[in-house]
Amino acid sequence: VSPVSTAITGIGSLLTNDPSLAAATGAAGRDPLGLIPGPAAVVIDGDRIAWIGPSSKAPPTDNRLDAAGRALLPGFVDSHSHLLFAGDRSAEFAARMSGRPYTAGGIRTTVEATRAAGDTELAATLARHLGEALRQGTTTQETKSGYGLTVHDEARALAVAARHTDEVTYLGAHVVPPEFAGDPAGYVALVTGAMLDACAPHARWVDVFCERGAFDGDQARAVLTAGAARGLTPRVHANQLGHGPGVQLAVELGAASADHCTHLDDADVDALASAAGTTVATLLPGAEFSTRARYPDARRLLDAGATVALSTDCNPGSSFTTSMPFCVALAVREMGMTPDEAVHAATYGGARALRRDDIGRIAVGARADLLLLDAPSHVHLAYRPGVPLAAAVWRGGVLRH
Ligand code: NIG
Ligand code: FE
Repeated sequence: VSPVSTAITGIGSLLTNDPSLAAATGAAGRDPLGLIPGPAAVVIDGDRIAWIGPSSKAPPTDNRLDAAGRALLPGFVDSHSHLLFAGDRSAEFAARMSGRPYTAGGIRTTVEATRAAGDTELAATLARHLGEALRQGTTTQETKSGYGLTVHDEARALAVAARHTDEVTYLGAHVVPPEFAGDPAGYVALVTGAMLDACAPHARWVDVFCERGAFDGDQARAVLTAGAARGLTPRVHANQLGHGPGVQLAVELGAASADHCTHLDDADVDALASAAGTTVATLLPGAEFSTRARYPDARRLLDAGATVALSTDCNPGSSFTTSMPFCVALAVREMGMTPDEAVHAATYGGARALRRDDIGRIAVGARADLLLLDAPSHVHLAYRPGVPLAAAVWRGGVLRH
């Protein structure tokens, strides 16, 4: 069976994240967004992008869809979420909104609920949130364990995740569970030993919550190097609740990303800037929104030359949103990013954080992961906050929404 081809024609504004492509079509060549003015067309063949050019020159295809002047961009790449959980913490959120501070202690509430949930419930919850994200334009979703915290519960969560996404992260080092409260070293030994053995086959990445109240720099280093020795690439929850060693550790170990980056000193910013080709600064404004914390300073990171990604951090405690458009809007309104920078970070930046070249851009040969907006430009994602603008979403060339 030959793959089905589809031409999306009449695109009013085509955001490719490929500057060379924009230059070749006569549009401005240095803009990282690689914007091609309309009317433009993109041809999908099977799961890949096969052709890009002016609408009038689109080759014949099996199907044709008229974008009618609307904007097309790569699907969002959400490179940081925690979707393997059970239970609800809305009461904790409500308490925070009336002045209670956020602490990582709430994680234990979700651990209890997750341990009590069967695989079917975990899988159903994951699928529900993946569907939610997809309907808002997310075509790649990274997700982590971290609410099981036993060998059995971490491994089964990752096995469930691996059935839905290639981007699976082992976060056995989320917090020290209650049964190890008097023996954190014993828990680190488990995370780097039997738990890693059980989890490594299901995961691509290893992560650690490096924070006061979770794991210190030495413990985090032990977790990440043990994971790396088993073929998992490090990423780090770094500098979320206060300043700490997480960012420096991420850069030193060549981690794919340092995530949160809310509390940075000059040395952290310099380190992320000089590691721009290796370690992405992943900003998670949903967490600051839902914990009433101050937002990370994206402007400072971008001006220094760091590579920035935007993600949801979706989890039941600190950021219960699957919405990349919401995060784009927050980044623009609260973090000093331009709409162009925020959309770039939510697509291309996420792909960099996952070390993927086949997603996060619209180029011949790339995966056909596409988002058609009910709007003439990507700027509307921030300009029209809270409005469902995803008119159509293709993942791997298949129209999914
Ligand atoms: O990324 N910071 C650590 N983990 C999550 C929050 C988890 C929770 O509160 O359940 C985060 O924000
Ligand atoms: Fe997180």
